Amino acid sequence: AIEAKQNAYAPYSNFRVGAALLTEDDQIITGCNVEISSYSLTICAERNAIFKAYSDGIRKFKAIAVAADTIDYISPCGACRQVISDLCGDIDVILINGNNETKILRTQQLLPFAFTDKELNKKDLS
Ligand code: THU
Repeated sequence: AIEAKQNAYAPYSNFRVGAALLTEDDQIITGCNVEISSYSLTICAERNAIFKAYSDGIRKFKAIAVAADTIDYISPCGACRQVISDLCGDIDVILINGNNETKILRTQQLLPFAFTDKELNKKDLS
């Protein structure tokens, strides 16, 4: 994740983020944030790594690391939390600050009471 951060394309925010997914069979798939001049089209490092892995047919993961140059630990955005929850499940989320210190949380701690595909099959009360 720290290495992937070097590839960040962040000309607007200058905020570089790297992510690395550890797959069930111990491969590492990396991603970085890529910013677009129409800002909302920007993709975060976490989602880039996860979509890369899915595109390669990889579906099972043990952990995701996220690195930024921040004093405090980077906190994945809400959109990325939902994507981690949906596409990776309850895995270790390793947060890395600018001093390369780490803090480990689980997906469920970052996104308690998450919306899941199970809700899609729930019937309403009427
Ligand atoms: N960003 C990430 O890549 N991951 C996060 O968890 C938070 C934010 C990126 C998006 C944007 O390019 C920049 O950081 C500033 O928001």
